[in-house]
Amino acid sequence: MCGIVGYIGPYQASDFLVEGLRRLEYRGYDSSGVVTIDDGEFTVTKSTGRVDDLVEKLKAHPARGSIGLGHTRWATHGPATEVNAHPHIGGDNVVALVHNGVIENFRELKQQLAERGYYCKSATDTEVVAQLVASEIDARCTAPNGAASNAAFSAADRYSALVDAVQAALSQLRGTYGLAMVFRDWPDVIIVARLGSPLVIGVGDDEHFVASDGSPLVGHTDRIVYLADHELAVVTTHSIRVIHRDEGDVRHKVNRLDIDTTQVELGGFPHYMLKEIFEQPETVTAAIRGRLNRDEATAVFGGLNLTAQQLRSIDRVVLTACGTSWHSALVGEYMIESFARIPVEVEYASELRYRNPPMSPHTVLFAITQSGETIDTLAALREMKRKGHPTLAICNVVGSTIAREADGGIYLHAGPEVGVASTKAYTSQCVVMALLALYFGRMRDLSFDAGLRIIDELAALPKYVEESLECNNETRRIAAKYAACNNFLYLGRQFNFPTALEGALKLKEISYIHAEGYPAAEMKHGPIALVDKHTPSVFIVPQGGVYSKVIANMEEIKARGGPVIAVVDKDDSQAVELADEVIHIPTVPEFLQPIVAAIPLQLLAYHAATFRGCDVDKPRNLAKSVTVE
Ligand code: AGP
Ligand code: GLU
Repeated sequence: MCGIVGYIGPYQASDFLVEGLRRLEYRGYDSSGVVTIDDGEFTVTKSTGRVDDLVEKLKAHPARGSIGLGHTRWATHGPATEVNAHPHIGGDNVVALVHNGVIENFRELKQQLAERGYYCKSATDTEVVAQLVASEIDARCTAPNGAASNAAFSAADRYSALVDAVQAALSQLRGTYGLAMVFRDWPDVIIVARLGSPLVIGVGDDEHFVASDGSPLVGHTDRIVYLADHELAVVTTHSIRVIHRDEGDVRHKVNRLDIDTTQVELGGFPHYMLKEIFEQPETVTAAIRGRLNRDEATAVFGGLNLTAQQLRSIDRVVLTACGTSWHSALVGEYMIESFARIPVEVEYASELRYRNPPMSPHTVLFAITQSGETIDTLAALREMKRKGHPTLAICNVVGSTIAREADGGIYLHAGPEVGVASTKAYTSQCVVMALLALYFGRMRDLSFDAGLRIIDELAALPKYVEESLECNNETRRIAAKYAACNNFLYLGRQFNFPTALEGALKLKEISYIHAEGYPAAEMKHGPIALVDKHTPSVFIVPQGGVYSKVIANMEEIKARGGPVIAVVDKDDSQAVELADEVIHIPTVPEFLQPIVAAIPLQLLAYHAATFRGCDVDKPRNLAKSVTVE
């Protein structure tokens, strides 16, 4: 989703703005822009395409000034053109503004503004906000003869008139926003405001930074302020004043940002996605660290914030998420039901938020999300909270909105995930699901011995993940052979049905090859019609209860001339005979198969995409965190 950066301090703003936009590129965007204030005038530079294109323009026409804003836009209203790119200017160069989110009532506002002489030049919803802010400023700060009347105000009045104007504009907006704005006549202040879209402020020494998340701040400051919904902040070089819509001035908490430079750099890998795939032995270790208790044969979590009574009375678990995180929820469903025997329902967050399913008061909700900012997941969590259910987050980004709004939760500790295609966060989510299943299981019928066995198996997981990565070269060879195909099927059963869905999603996202994930047996009921010699089927078929059934499904594909790529255990004997291509993974218990089997599928998608010349880290049309509905 779009990225916002801002700078105010003693240095050239454009240096931080450009570097910050590059750090936010992973969120997905289609155009970009910056504004600085120099000598009392705005310098606006915009470009479609990559931040590199913007940088070329800035080389030709530098943006000078020590205050400014930058933006990467992920278009929701109006195509990705230069006119629609942010920043947008309101009035007669009164305000320059960048926005993340959607203004739902922009049509009505646009018309009302036009009647008052404020015309929009772009097709965006955002420009309406710029014009609205300008009109409110003009109404308060312009003398009857039309000349700016700042001189008539004392310094304090000038600021309060500005804040009043911005608040008046915000009160007319319906929808979601993270907004940052600078003002020609107040060149020493940035105002930011948030409702539904993330915004943070970095606290430096006599300088301040604004960003959509913590990554642009790395290397500049480790002190961060998270803005909450309905808050507005007035940021100058030396001060931050936070004002809540209903509560007035509020104290802001300065948190420590726990990311270091190596985590947001490529470290010798050609792409973040590959770097993150190879980080998985460490990230699964981090997800397990400190959470296994051998004495009690269970898992331990520090932040569930539920009483023992609440935990024991849970009669249903609802797991909600989007995309890849939703696939980890499906894995969690199998795990929790088999270890803990608690009924589990997996719901798309975008559906749950508008449904009203009957649920007992003892239903607990887990929202699973890498970013902690996905708007549908956040809305589903709020809806469940409103109905009185305990809500917990399984989340990677520390301090994100969902992490803060949930009653409690579990962090993945996977470090920043920059590649748009989620890899390491997925396997960490599956690990946390296994820990949770163990935890709930041990509160119910799971025996001490069974708990201890699960603990031993989880403790060995990092080694298996390491072994799984050994398939990289073989997977690359297979990807080269099939990269020109336009359709793939991914088939698996039970624990590996979600693995099939995840493998197909990875391929679609980054290589733009059409792929469908199916339960292997369900394939007979339709998708088998797609099978021909140009449509490979990827079978996830490690040993387990349904092994021989999946082998039979594989026969069905072979009988119809479809190429078969099989992901199998080290000691497989039957699938290797049938398949055209074989990828080996270590032999692990069934509940860990989704984790070790996901790795070759991530690599297959990665290599197929690079052979097709796709931009792996910035796939078209996609955003890393989807903060609009
Ligand atoms: C993953 O590869 C996708 N880019 C996407 O499906 C993602 O998992 C989804 O948008 C949910 O994001 P979240 O985990 O940050 O909530
Ligand atoms: N809705 C705005 C637009 O289309 C902002 C999109 C974004 O969040 O990047 O310009």
